Amino acid sequence: MHKQNTFQKNFIWGAATSSYQIEGAPTAGGKGPSVWDIFSHSPGKIKNNDNGDIACNHYELWPQDITLMKELGINAYRFSISWPRIFPTGIESKPNQSGLDFYSKLVDVLLENNITPFVTLNHWDIPQGLEEIGGWPNREIVNEFVKYSYHTSNHLGDRVKYWITHNEPWCVSYLGYVIGRKPPGLIQNWPKSLAAAHHLMLSHGMAIPEIRSNSDNSEVGITLNLNTAVPASDSKYDEDACRFYDGQFNRLYLNPLYKSEYPDDVFEYLRSRDWISQSDLNFIKDDDLNIISTKTDFLGVNYYSRGVIRNEEIDEKNNHTRNVEIGEKTDFGWEIYPPGIYDLLIRLKNEYSVNNIYITENGCSYGDGPNSEGKIRDTRRIKYFDSHLKELKRSIQDGVQCNGYFAWSLMDNFEWAEGFSQRFGLVWVDFETQERIPKDSYYWYQKFISSNGIEVK
Ligand code: FCB
Repeated sequence: MHKQNTFQKNFIWGAATSSYQIEGAPTAGGKGPSVWDIFSHSPGKIKNNDNGDIACNHYELWPQDITLMKELGINAYRFSISWPRIFPTGIESKPNQSGLDFYSKLVDVLLENNITPFVTLNHWDIPQGLEEIGGWPNREIVNEFVKYSYHTSNHLGDRVKYWITHNEPWCVSYLGYVIGRKPPGLIQNWPKSLAAAHHLMLSHGMAIPEIRSNSDNSEVGITLNLNTAVPASDSKYDEDACRFYDGQFNRLYLNPLYKSEYPDDVFEYLRSRDWISQSDLNFIKDDDLNIISTKTDFLGVNYYSRGVIRNEEIDEKNNHTRNVEIGEKTDFGWEIYPPGIYDLLIRLKNEYSVNNIYITENGCSYGDGPNSEGKIRDTRRIKYFDSHLKELKRSIQDGVQCNGYFAWSLMDNFEWAEGFSQRFGLVWVDFETQERIPKDSYYWYQKFISSNGIEVK
């Protein structure tokens, strides 16, 4: 029987990681400290006071990790470059050769194995030296990012053809400056949060032509973490809260990038609470929005869960009863909501006319480890992937142009403020011995890829 397939013949099936989460080797080859080295060594910032000094020791074990990728059957691998391996303090005028060599070798061996590299330039671990001169809220960092992008693409651009400027600017801007869960750990500092978001996007726009000039026929884009948000009830309070949530989470990034404008309602909301003043927005200069909205070749989308938004500013007793049912949660406490990826992708098509998407992350945290026979029966992870891929397929059938999907993550790793307590990998990692054991989900994904997604179960 002829089976209908929606995933095109050369669909990209990958897995993703990031430098600080897997590499270890914080000083090898002249690498300078990143903000994450400093943050993770600050007492109380990370669960169990874990840090990424060793993580998966991928810096030394990368050949064996490529073997795992090869056996998995992925045709692409998304990884990030540690900026302070290339510019140890950020402000040097010449790149550090040993850092470039590390990634150059990695890229060569990936290509020898027919695995296409997708390179993220900034997955948050910026040089501490740049944090010390003000970090993302300081406009000077924009030129430093452009310089770093130029040198890195100049060195790798003959072989790397997929470039992601930044990973999830929201996490840097909101979690770093409003919630304090990520470096630099500031709380409720909206002026800095917005300036950080702006400079992240501006540096993205400015880096695009540099990367293109160094890497012929390449695709350059940015990765955003996006979701679908719904009010927890039909009250006006929850609707207002949900509009703000959607604004600061999704539209604050999508609108400048795709519509060359900021969502005014977000600024209005912040002003009405005195969290920002008018002059706090002076970081927006003439022409910035034109640069930010420079046409990209793709949008990277990271999807994990949806937002069910309750207005926390009013007394519960004055609000309507919550009427949105929350589904099952992963070990991280994130709700499993597969239709959310469908809704999000349709919105990106209809409201933003995004016409080339890669799902650059999707996955779930479950603690399942080896049983008495050494097998890892992570059936809940299989179910998560299966249900999300079905929704992805449905969105493609409904006209979404998505050309690739990356599972987060290739292997268990350092999950930021959660340390090693949350495991997202297709491969189990024993952080004491560095042993890697493929989980059942790894074999499931292997089979899925080999049939190009025809056999979803
Ligand atoms: C995303 C990050 C990634 C990983 C997953 C679980 O926000 O980009 O590094 O931590 O969440």
